[in-house]
Amino acid sequence: MSASSPDNAFRDCPDRSGTGSEKWDRWAGRDILPLWVADMDFCSPPEVLDAVHARVDHGVFGYTADPPGFAPALVAHLESLHGWSPDPTSIVGTPGVVTGLALTARLLTAADDEILTFTPVYPPFLTLPGAAGRRTVRVPLAQSAAAWTIDWDQLESAATNRSKLFWLCHPHNPTGTVFGQQELLRLADFTERLGITVVSDEIWSDLLLDDGRHIPFASLDHPAARRAITLTAPSKTWNLAGLGCAAAIVPDPDQRRRLRPSGGGLVPMVNSLGYAAAEAAWRHGDPWRRQLIGLLQDHRDRVLRAVAKIPGLACVSPAATYLVWIDCRGTGITDPQAACEAAGLGPSDGRDFGFPGFIRLNTACPTSRLDEALRRLHRAFQTA
Ligand SMILES: Cc1ncc(COP(=O)(O)O)c(C=O)c1O
Repeated sequence: MSASSPDNAFRDCPDRSGTGSEKWDRWAGRDILPLWVADMDFCSPPEVLDAVHARVDHGVFGYTADPPGFAPALVAHLESLHGWSPDPTSIVGTPGVVTGLALTARLLTAADDEILTFTPVYPPFLTLPGAAGRRTVRVPLAQSAAAWTIDWDQLESAATNRSKLFWLCHPHNPTGTVFGQQELLRLADFTERLGITVVSDEIWSDLLLDDGRHIPFASLDHPAARRAITLTAPSKTWNLAGLGCAAAIVPDPDQRRRLRPSGGGLVPMVNSLGYAAAEAAWRHGDPWRRQLIGLLQDHRDRVLRAVAKIPGLACVSPAATYLVWIDCRGTGITDPQAACEAAGLGPSDGRDFGFPGFIRLNTACPTSRLDEALRRLHRAFQTA
């Protein structure tokens, strides 16, 4: 049992090399600290590990549908954290939020239909529609020194009569923006007027910093909210991405019934260990989550202080996530990703998010590793 005491849970992390870690294998054998793909270097909390151990001890891993505790555990979690209690019968397990997005494209739109989204954005939002024979319509967020905000004129002019879905990333990856009630209601008005369905990816909603409040889109008192689909998962918050367990909250019974078949046999069932971990995380993971948030705030502030000292870098302080989105265009360096890699740092490349000239740093690692990464960030832009 690798249950860590609360004090060292975020300090003593196992070596992930040789475990098939996407994050660590990318630059294996090179002195490049990987602060890119969004998983954490921390072990999951003891309560979650215990539940997985208990499921393993059961010893039978046959085909598994949503266990009876799955939906109630998610509802209890959403209720206590966000004050929202969706109908448990509207919840279906999916092996990933990305899978859920891909399924909504196939389920709710036809060939050549358009899916709108705010950019920059998590890369699958840009690539999945094309893979399904649909089109992504990019609506750039407006950037100021203090915030990334919705450009309503851009949104109005982007929509056509082929626009069928709005994929909302809420909270927003990579900027860490948390959309507030007025913005969500205005977005609801816009989508309702044009008959567009909102699919809200709320995978980051448990990681709000600074005591911020997340408002689930579907919890709004609005007709657009009542037919919205919500996708969520315990995977970001409790570091469970490799267990492949997420949830789609689909109020329409017919859509819900057709969700799995729309995967065309390509989408597997959720695995039984993922269910065990998810349920335990939602039921028992909150003290650990709160402790994690304290660390993530400190890490975010360390990055902001480092960025402020490097001429030409700029960054809006994220209100959620463990990601920091850095504008490197002021440095005059055309390929900041290459500059970072040359200095021994591996961020995510803004080009993948539709925004060249930016990088994204993942701060979910031990503090000593983050501090070393920030020294390398400084070196990247000093030497170039
Ligand atoms: C906004 C967003 N959605 C979905 C995912 C991935 O979800 P899953 O692993 O459940 O497919 C990520 C991972 O970083 C993400 O940032």
